[in-house]
Amino acid sequence: MPDLDLVVKEIAEEMRQRPDRGEVATYIPELARADANAFGLAVIDADGNVALGGDAETPFSIQSISKVFTLTLALGKAGDRLWQRVGREPSGSAFNSIIQLEYEHGIPRNPFINAGAIAVTDLILSGHQPREALGEILRFLQFLADDETIAIDEAVAASERRTGFRNAALANYMKSFGVLENPVDFTLGVYFHHCAIAMSCRQLAMAGRFLAHQGRNPTTGRSVVVPERARRINAVMLTCGHYDGSGEFAYRVGLPGKSGVGGGILAIAPGKASIAVWSPGLDASGNSHLGRIALEALTKRLGWSIFGA
Ligand code: DON
Repeated sequence: MPDLDLVVKEIAEEMRQRPDRGEVATYIPELARADANAFGLAVIDADGNVALGGDAETPFSIQSISKVFTLTLALGKAGDRLWQRVGREPSGSAFNSIIQLEYEHGIPRNPFINAGAIAVTDLILSGHQPREALGEILRFLQFLADDETIAIDEAVAASERRTGFRNAALANYMKSFGVLENPVDFTLGVYFHHCAIAMSCRQLAMAGRFLAHQGRNPTTGRSVVVPERARRINAVMLTCGHYDGSGEFAYRVGLPGKSGVGGGILAIAPGKASIAVWSPGLDASGNSHLGRIALEALTKRLGWSIFGA
């Protein structure tokens, strides 16, 4: 088995030198300020060893990676009833596409496309004030990462609220079908804010550990979800976590993963490790360009693809 720390540092150095960096997201103006040259990688193995490379301690906007954690919370509240409000099939469309919603009567294809994540957020919000729901999501991440310093980047949230016309369209459209229970503005407010949570690769890899180890953190022994639920969340990450790039991600990396337009990816090597990578430049599907390449290199060198060596 190659030395984990060495592999992580080698990959970070290789990525630092590459000229192809993808395109930083600009549709949320505040995200356009990200440094295209940044690259971070964090891997935490089953024994709790932490391997860090590049800018692994720099906080970035987790964006859609938050949807893994809101899905986990919503399943905790509603159990399998959640699947009446949102499907679990890959969409084959862009993360912000509206087209399937009309054909499918306002039921989003999966919890990771924007429409699906907005429906999941609405479920978490029901029976609460927006600030309570948001506090619950933030505290859940702080608990998982064992780090109370994790916070929301208010400038990113405000920037998305000002420019989130597509998400407003998706939410209003779902509301017209009765899929959302709460006022659209409230649901969108919570959604924009949880997408604007800032975390470093190290914090994110910590937060993902329960998914790599059958629902519990193997270091603290604390259980987050039952093994079956962790397995199923991983399945949805594998099939839907990269939108219309999910097939390519499975083909090249071979791990459940969830991307965000801030350039982060959380990837899970079941039984082995929780991995977070960050590079702000995106590919055409809105997934981190170098993040995917780095994960491909990592799984290849360590033999971690769930599909075999
Ligand atoms: O709703 C949006 O468009 C963003 N807050 C999140 C989108 C996103 O991260 C898609 N991921 N690759």
